[in-house]
Amino acid sequence: MKVLVIGSGGREHALCWKIKESPLLTKLYCAPGNAGIADLADCVPIPADDLDALRKFAGDMKIDLTIVGPEAPLVAGIVDAFKKAKLPIFGPTKAAAQLEGSKAFAKQFMKEQGIPTANFGVFSDYKKALKALDEYQYPLVIKASGLAAGKGVIICPDRSFAEKTLKTILSDRSFGEAGSKVVVEEYLQGEEASILAITDGERYFMLPPSQDHKRLLDGDLGPNTGGMGAVAPARVVTPELQERIEIEILRPTLKGMRAHKTPFRGCLYLGLMICSDGPKLLEYNCRFGDPETQVVLPMVRSDLLKIFLAAANGNLSTEELEVWSKWCVCVVLASAGYPGKYQKGLPISGLKAFSDRIKIFYAGTMLKDNKTVTSGGRVLGVTGIGFNLQSAVKFAYQAVESIQFEGKTFRTDIAQKALKRPRKKQVAKIPVPRRFD
Ligand code: AMP
Ligand code: GLY
Repeated sequence: MKVLVIGSGGREHALCWKIKESPLLTKLYCAPGNAGIADLADCVPIPADDLDALRKFAGDMKIDLTIVGPEAPLVAGIVDAFKKAKLPIFGPTKAAAQLEGSKAFAKQFMKEQGIPTANFGVFSDYKKALKALDEYQYPLVIKASGLAAGKGVIICPDRSFAEKTLKTILSDRSFGEAGSKVVVEEYLQGEEASILAITDGERYFMLPPSQDHKRLLDGDLGPNTGGMGAVAPARVVTPELQERIEIEILRPTLKGMRAHKTPFRGCLYLGLMICSDGPKLLEYNCRFGDPETQVVLPMVRSDLLKIFLAAANGNLSTEELEVWSKWCVCVVLASAGYPGKYQKGLPISGLKAFSDRIKIFYAGTMLKDNKTVTSGGRVLGVTGIGFNLQSAVKFAYQAVESIQFEGKTFRTDIAQKALKRPRKKQVAKIPVPRRFD
């Protein structure tokens, strides 16, 4: 099988690494890829949002399956374009990708399906939104409805901050069209977790739950980032909670999307807050999470390419999902200044061969004169793989110490919250795909 992966981050490196294990694979391409992916795949210099060029490449090269990493091409309709050209692709259609592309749509859908989530209102009129602030307590959360590269969620500590935020988004259009609507919602207290589900629109597998560390600094302080590290399985999601998430959130989502005549096929990401009264859904993503994918994929024993192909063909029924009893911890190494401005082109040293307990997934990196240099905010994901959580943490941080580049920035407390939780049997195994009715 000839496979094309679209994207250039740590998530896509992890996808390429996992797909590379498959006996079905004959040739792997990645567009545009990065310095690490180049060791596994032929990198093709087509940007992830150039839908026409990607479709032409897949057609010319007779690609048997395309797997899409980032949300932008999905929300722009890459799956529809490929399907029209009869090119097999794993991912949701433009209509189904609205679950991520429009927070207003997603929240209204959650309400319609009775899915537990924060109370909210959707506004496009600045004055009406201002008036509605009377109904909320602080802190409160204001979100630009459209895609905003992870920057569209603002936690407002008080009313005056909320008023300014509404003005910036709705009147000044600081996020452009993505801010033509806002979601104003209740602030939820709890611990966050992520669940990835592979679905063909009728059946699904839940992958092991994971936990991202979104803030820049130790102790969950500082600005939100794309994610500074992750752990899987997430201890906060006990098997009992995982079952509740499946019944109260995942199944109603898939059932509701099918009822809307826009079945979701691909990887559905549930961004959850585990509150004192149970799991609540913060957001959907219509794709694999990053860095979550860098800890979840090393836990999967089965041939994921076979599973992606079956899901893309609407035929997940004959597959099985086997998961290792392992722990994975990913520490992200970022450029100094991230998530703001940062320097590029800095040489990276210490990228030697590591043991099989360590996987280095490359993100913002490129090759310059045959040397690996930084080219993005999140530079590398260093994943430690252990038979217990402590050893996974130890392996990850040992490797972190041996890799160097100017301004290397990372959190020193990835998985510490998980370590403080009591040890329990973790993974609620789902060896065969489940139907939701
Ligand atoms: P989202 O893109 O909607 O997941 O939001 C990004 C991040 O903002 C989440 O991962 C949370 O850390 C935070 N967040 C979003 N919505 C809420 C909420 N209602 N209450 C508390 N934190 C939130
Ligand atoms: N780690 C958060 C995301 O992928 O959106």
